[in-house]
Amino acid sequence: MNSPVMQGLNLQAPSFVKNARLMAWVADMVALCKPESVHWCDGSAEEYDRLCQQLVDAGTFRKLDPVKRPNSYLACSDPSDVARVEDRTFICSNTREEAGPTNNWMAPAEMRATLQPLFDGCMKGRTMYVVPFSMGPLGSPIAHIGIELSDSPYVAVNMSIMTRMGKAVYDVLGVNGEFVPCVHTVGAPLEPGQADVSWPCNQTKYIVHYPETREIWSYGSGYGGNALLGKKCFALRIASNMGRDEGWLAEHMLILGVTSPEGKKYHVAAAFPSACGKTNFAMLIPPKGFEGWRVTTIGDDIAWIKPGADGRLYAINPEAGYFGVAPGTNTRTNPNCMASLDKNVIFTNVALTDDGDVWWENMSPPPAHCIDWQGKDWTPEIAAQTGAKAAHPNARFTVAAINNPALDAEWDNPAGVPIDAFIFGGRRSTTVPLVTEARDWVEGVYMAATMGSETTAAAGGAQGVVRRDPFAMLPFTGYNMSDYFQHWLSLGRKLQAGGARLPKIYTTNWFRKGEDGKFVWPGYGENMRVLKWMIDRIEGRVPGQDNVFGVGPAYEEINWNGLDFTPQQFAQVTDIDQAAWRQELQLHAELFEQLAYHLPQELKDTKAKIEERLG
Ligand code: GTP
Ligand code: SPV
Ligand code: MN
Repeated sequence: MNSPVMQGLNLQAPSFVKNARLMAWVADMVALCKPESVHWCDGSAEEYDRLCQQLVDAGTFRKLDPVKRPNSYLACSDPSDVARVEDRTFICSNTREEAGPTNNWMAPAEMRATLQPLFDGCMKGRTMYVVPFSMGPLGSPIAHIGIELSDSPYVAVNMSIMTRMGKAVYDVLGVNGEFVPCVHTVGAPLEPGQADVSWPCNQTKYIVHYPETREIWSYGSGYGGNALLGKKCFALRIASNMGRDEGWLAEHMLILGVTSPEGKKYHVAAAFPSACGKTNFAMLIPPKGFEGWRVTTIGDDIAWIKPGADGRLYAINPEAGYFGVAPGTNTRTNPNCMASLDKNVIFTNVALTDDGDVWWENMSPPPAHCIDWQGKDWTPEIAAQTGAKAAHPNARFTVAAINNPALDAEWDNPAGVPIDAFIFGGRRSTTVPLVTEARDWVEGVYMAATMGSETTAAAGGAQGVVRRDPFAMLPFTGYNMSDYFQHWLSLGRKLQAGGARLPKIYTTNWFRKGEDGKFVWPGYGENMRVLKWMIDRIEGRVPGQDNVFGVGPAYEEINWNGLDFTPQQFAQVTDIDQAAWRQELQLHAELFEQLAYHLPQELKDTKAKIEERLG
């Protein structure tokens, strides 16, 4: 506290901060990062407005037209900082085996030694924001508290939408409460007199997790999951470790409620990889032919799932907002989402229209002119010539859950909602059928474990490449993937032994393409037809058809009211090509080789059975 850097720095925590460990940690981090000042966030509306104005003044934010898009802003990032950086993400457990073959690993001591010089003085010339947040309803027994220290006011305002952020967190924390320490820097210290840029960041990036000590250290990026540390870093990578230790699940899943015309409500949790339709599915509006049905949103990205006293699995959404993909979102594909974006939104990397509003690909007919996400003129003619996108493909909006007209009444219930079905869905232009039901829990875990998906712009790197993405958790499981499979199997076995009826498990694929390269399945709201079939299966109303992996729907088992979809088209999205599947099983084999250490025997047995059926 007496080092020279502290001099003239108001380190005094506000009177509402009473946690000794927190105060000591902040003092240590100030000594390390050497910010010019410290701001303890209180989460007030006044603070939000002030920080947004500051971001406008700094050129990071552009305030949008107050009539067209009230209280909303546009931020455009550095072109090198547009998505999660999976190759720079590390799980620094004590041993390499604990991180497993799907995670980057470095020994904790080595990583600490690597980060030390990077963090030393990393916040010079900037303000350190102390951002207190709760993942899950404040004070609820299932919630966990984190404190993010960040030199990015963009992060502070985004965190105030994405989490329960503010002063009340300190009351819950009290004198001795536990929190997950999260340190974030854009890695762009300012020398005296040095002008800032609109999106500071560093070419060097490290997204680091220490599972044993439950710490997060993030360096060099200001974007999304790299920087909003409550989300992927805490609620998935660290929380998956907590869940394994404590007997619950932290999953990359949306949670929805679906209510029948008779008023019976079901809850479904669905894991689709990044940019593969979670937000859309969570906000689905049932199409023509489904009068009286209603879908409501509990969450769109992350689920924490715990066994209840009755042996059922209960899910909560630990977040309080949506950080959703903008391109492709429109009033036809996701009307509830578009309504959510009417006001109080932070847009990142979309285009600015001449009338001070936003635009992105497929939002509406293209404007004659706009300013693209990189600040360049964009016209449909330029796009036709150069292929330039007005919005970055991973452009996003940040908006509070309470903006969503389809928000479920129970979204905030600390008890969570009981799950009736799990869905795992990849993006596959070939091979994988529209929907398959697992015959039992183990078969379902096998399906989820071996899921493949084409990569999207949500992560840096090559796009459209099929890779295995177990449980849609490849970038997010904070420990050895095979141990994670075992955790799912063990939890299922334990609940079943207690006499509980486990949720059914399904896989879906909305993304099969025809010879013309177009999606055959209409998707979006029409996915309701598949959801309804799942409910009919849960209720035992349709027999389904056995196939090599599980149970699929017969054409007649789907309600086609209001949609012209022929049996031939249905065959195009449901056919099982034996040759393609023999190749697919080869990819499962490669995955199992990679994950051989601790791979559960039950999964190997399931694979052998499928191979036998395939012949
Ligand atoms: P993360 O936030 O990255 O975890 O992704 P997400 O799963 O929430 O993705 P989101 O719902 O935002 O979907 C991203 C992209 O998938 C958008 O471009 C959508 O248009 C497209 N998409 C969503 N649902 C469907 C569907 O049913 N069919 C097709 N063809 N595309 C879809
Ligand atoms: C994802 O990539 O799955 C996201 C976006 O939900 S981010 O928060 O940036 O990770
Ligand atoms: Mn996600």
